[in-house]
Amino acid sequence: KKVVLAYSGGLDTSVILKWLQTTYRCEVVTFTADLGQGEELGPARDKALLLGIKPENIFIDDLREEFTRDFVFPMFRMNALYEGQYLLGTSIARPLIAKRQIEIAEQVGADAVAHGATGKGNDQVRFEIGYYALKPDVKVIAPWREWDLTSRTRLLEFAEANQIPIAKDKRGEAPFSVDANLLHSSSEGKILEEPWDAPDEMVWQRTISPMDAPDTPTEITMEFERGDAVGINGKRLSPAALLTELNALGKANGIGRLDLVENRFVGMKSRGCYETPGGTILYQAHRAIESITLDREAAHLKDSLMPRYAELVYNGFWFSPERRMLQAMADESQKSVSGEVRLKLYKGNVIVTGRRSPNSLYSMKHVTFEEDQGAYDQFDAQGFIKLNALRLRLGAMAGRKGGTL
Ligand code: ARG
Ligand code: SIN
Repeated sequence: KKVVLAYSGGLDTSVILKWLQTTYRCEVVTFTADLGQGEELGPARDKALLLGIKPENIFIDDLREEFTRDFVFPMFRMNALYEGQYLLGTSIARPLIAKRQIEIAEQVGADAVAHGATGKGNDQVRFEIGYYALKPDVKVIAPWREWDLTSRTRLLEFAEANQIPIAKDKRGEAPFSVDANLLHSSSEGKILEEPWDAPDEMVWQRTISPMDAPDTPTEITMEFERGDAVGINGKRLSPAALLTELNALGKANGIGRLDLVENRFVGMKSRGCYETPGGTILYQAHRAIESITLDREAAHLKDSLMPRYAELVYNGFWFSPERRMLQAMADESQKSVSGEVRLKLYKGNVIVTGRRSPNSLYSMKHVTFEEDQGAYDQFDAQGFIKLNALRLRLGAMAGRKGGTL
């Protein structure tokens, strides 16, 4: 019996690793991904070896390009925001981890997969729906839902009894739980659980405070092709390099902090502090290039479906027919979304100052306050307005003035 474990190299997943070996008595294969969380992966390999994992059973992959190109960028084509604010930084990483874990399971002939998400959150749902969608007969092991290591003390005891190295700073309880990748970092739980308590400044890890940001704005241009960002200041960059660069620009200008109470799929509300510096810039820039290249009804239709799409991603249905359908629509809409956007980054704000495109639908000739050249006959507007008002006039005549029911 073999199980593929999503292994971060941290204390919790190391305990899970040992627990799988001892409780399930199965051969453990570890999978560690570089998703841009900003941690060295060498130590994860060393730790896996130390815990008795055979070298051929240790998988370490740099997934930053795939993550940005095939998950983050498609999602940004849709301008997805969950509950109006959350850029879905954790949600969008889960299906990729699930996909790679299943690929490894097929490759090594494992019948089970395991993850370190708790039984209370969204992540368990996202991982497992991803597993089942890709390998319907897979056996899922979620130790946090099964074991009796329910307190920190018992976890540490188990670690000690099994010679799992514990970093000095991990002995005490971490003050909150962090998840990070190239798109964002999130902090939740413990000291952040009281939604009235302002987050301590040390919660924020990848942005400086807007209050400490430079007094002069940083001006940049961003180039787009078919809905995807392809360059910054005229320099072409790969998706992951571009997001990395935007993160640096966002960080330095205090951009992308969010303190939010959201509705988890499992039913409870939770409070999180998120940082999405590059994503926040990308979101604003993408909307700006869409503003001149998308037809009005195309844009409005897309916007009306955006909350559904965001909910699908949040709830873990990336590998679903409905997400693929909405994605096809979003992708089709982006055919002409190419051009350039100019932005000012200033003390936590992303300020669009210009946009241009060879495919622009913006017509100065039509919109101008100056004498127009007969392209738009203002007289036509009279009938347009009167017919649009007809039912309201009929209503008013029938005694229902002002749209009263
Ligand atoms: N609440 C956010 C979400 O559901 C962030 C989850 C963070 N996950 C974690 N394992 N710390 O997408
Ligand atoms: C967890 O419960 O493992 C993290 C939070 C979440 O998944 O929503």
